[in-house]
Amino acid sequence: MVLKEHDTTNIINMRKNSILASGRAKVKIIVTSIIIVILILLFFMKKQGVFGAGKVNPPELFSIFYTCDTSGHIEPCGCVGGMAGGLSRRQTYLVQSKPSDFLLVDAGDVTAGYRPWEILELEYILKGYEQMGYHAVNVGRREVLIKYDDLKNLKNQYSQFVSANLQGPDGKLVFEPFVVVKLSNGYRCGIIGILDDNLQEDEIGDGLTVTPPSDALSKYLPELKKKSDYIVLLAFADQDKIKEIAKQFFEVDVIVGGDVHQATSMPLKENHSILVLNTDKGKNVGRLNVRYTSEDELKYDGEIFVIAESMERDEYLAQLVEEYKLELKERQFRPLKDDEEGLSAISAMRSKNADKYIGPESCEECHEKAYKIWEESKHANAFKALEEKNDHYNPKCVQCHVVGYMASDGYISQELTPKLKNVSCESCHGRGDHHVKLESDKEVKIEQLGMKQTDCITCHDEENSPEFNEEEYWEKITHGLDEEKAETKEQEN
Ligand code: HEC
Ligand code: HEC
Ligand code: HEC
Ligand code: HEC
Repeated sequence: MVLKEHDTTNIINMRKNSILASGRAKVKIIVTSIIIVILILLFFMKKQGVFGAGKVNPPELFSIFYTCDTSGHIEPCGCVGGMAGGLSRRQTYLVQSKPSDFLLVDAGDVTAGYRPWEILELEYILKGYEQMGYHAVNVGRREVLIKYDDLKNLKNQYSQFVSANLQGPDGKLVFEPFVVVKLSNGYRCGIIGILDDNLQEDEIGDGLTVTPPSDALSKYLPELKKKSDYIVLLAFADQDKIKEIAKQFFEVDVIVGGDVHQATSMPLKENHSILVLNTDKGKNVGRLNVRYTSEDELKYDGEIFVIAESMERDEYLAQLVEEYKLELKERQFRPLKDDEEGLSAISAMRSKNADKYIGPESCEECHEKAYKIWEESKHANAFKALEEKNDHYNPKCVQCHVVGYMASDGYISQELTPKLKNVSCESCHGRGDHHVKLESDKEVKIEQLGMKQTDCITCHDEENSPEFNEEEYWEKITHGLDEEKAETKEQEN
């Protein structure tokens, strides 16, 4: 009996023990899982930088690629050989050079301007920037010429713009003030943009206000500081203004500018910030390497890479440029008729008595020699040069390759104004209608008329004709009155 009893209690105890044992094991499993979950959470929180700035170290190397002042140069015009720049070659450089960790930014002045065809070009550039992987594009002086509604449209399609001090009519920011980009190890780089507010009223598009940059930075930098480990400021401002900002805001690690005349090849140190500048029609890309050595020390070096004409063109970007040209052709933009005499402002139609462009064929009869010289000169083929590049619908190019493009009676299109294509007599001498009527004794309501002379450099400027030398160039097209006529003129005098 005793034994029996003993046995049963033993059995009961054994059961108790086994129940207890399995209970303990469960608790152990639960506790371990909780610990594992917490560890995983901690790991991710650390990775995400939830514990605030400074917890995640920067990667050993990351590069900041920066551009500025593309100014609508989606590709070089090719007016002379050897022109640097263009998106398709810029992309070739980037593809070849990008390390695994990088930031790609533009400090502003991407667009040529605010006109409809310039905005169309900007859209194609932004499409290209998307493909290239731009993280942020700042608003520059040229973007701020675009009216609010058009910027809003761009914002709906392209997400790269940042600006902490550009406001719309509602007093709200037009674009995000900043973006935060995470590098491969979770290191967070904040990119914020500002534009200097030293602008005249007519330099700001309808509906826009540019607030003082320092107010905007005081407002947004503390917020950005919480969300990032490293801060890059895109500043479209001159060098003095940029230095002033560097003195005032010590949180900024790198300032990329700006509204300057020259790019910096070596990074400059200004207060707590590293300063790099770029400009020159998107002909080059700046690269700033940030190296994490140890003890929280960052070392900087950099270079400016010129996008040479000899580089291969990236296929996708080259294709995009062709699509842009096709769309220019489809849309057939009319130039904004900006009559130099202001007539178009008074009435859409020029008065019947006003002088007008008539084309070079009307000059041949009396100026045979001059005509022949012109006919054999490159000026007579200026339009063909555009056609060969499929740029003959590009208003930006056409203005220098035809007669009177911006005038109300000037070139519109090959179909509507065939006589006014190419650079011809009236590109340099002005409207010829009255002169021809006078010389052929037709009635005209003026008594005297001197054909004017246009400066060669209105077209042969530094950008499009860097080799221009008045004497040498004039020699190639030198002409004047035919001898007999010169004599008549002398006799008359
Ligand atoms: C500011 C005036 C101006 C603008 C704008 C302009 N060009 Fe030109 N272009 C010139 C001048 C001037 C030359 C002659 C340069 C020289 O020989 O020194 C030229 C030459 C050229 C030539 C060389 C033709 C040849 O015989 O070798 C091409 C091609 C050309 N331009 C294309 C373009 C394209 C495409 C655009 C627009 C993207 C454009 N141009 C915009 C003024 C201009
Ligand atoms: C019916 C004949 C005739 C036609 C057509 C004609 N011209 Fe003339 N042009 C003359 C004569 C004659 C002179 C010289 C006498 C004078 O100065 O009045 C002259 C002088 C000029 C001069 C230099 C004197 C000045 O007025 O500054 C220029 C430049 C000129 N012509 C350009 C043109 C152009 C451009 C065209 C075509 C749009 C043209 N001419 C058509 C007869 C003509
Ligand atoms: C690229 C600009 C340009 C083009 C195009 C051009 N000319 Fe001229 N032309 C000039 C210049 C510059 C002069 C020199 C004026 C001087 O010597 O003071 C000149 C001189 C003349 C003169 C002599 C003026 C005088 O007072 O002795 C005549 C006539 C003339 N051009 C007619 C023409 C005709 C006709 C055409 C077209 C077939 C033509 N030009 C095309 C720039 C041009
Ligand atoms: C309305 C714009 C315009 C004006 C004004 C103008 N040019 Fe040109 N010029 C051009 C363009 C565009 C070309 C290129 C044409 C081409 O090669 O197809 C050119 C080409 C030339 C060339 C040929 C260059 C070469 O490579 O051989 C000479 C020379 C020249 N211009 C001289 C002059 C001179 C001199 C003047 C002033 C008297 C002048 N041009 C005014 C637009 C202009």
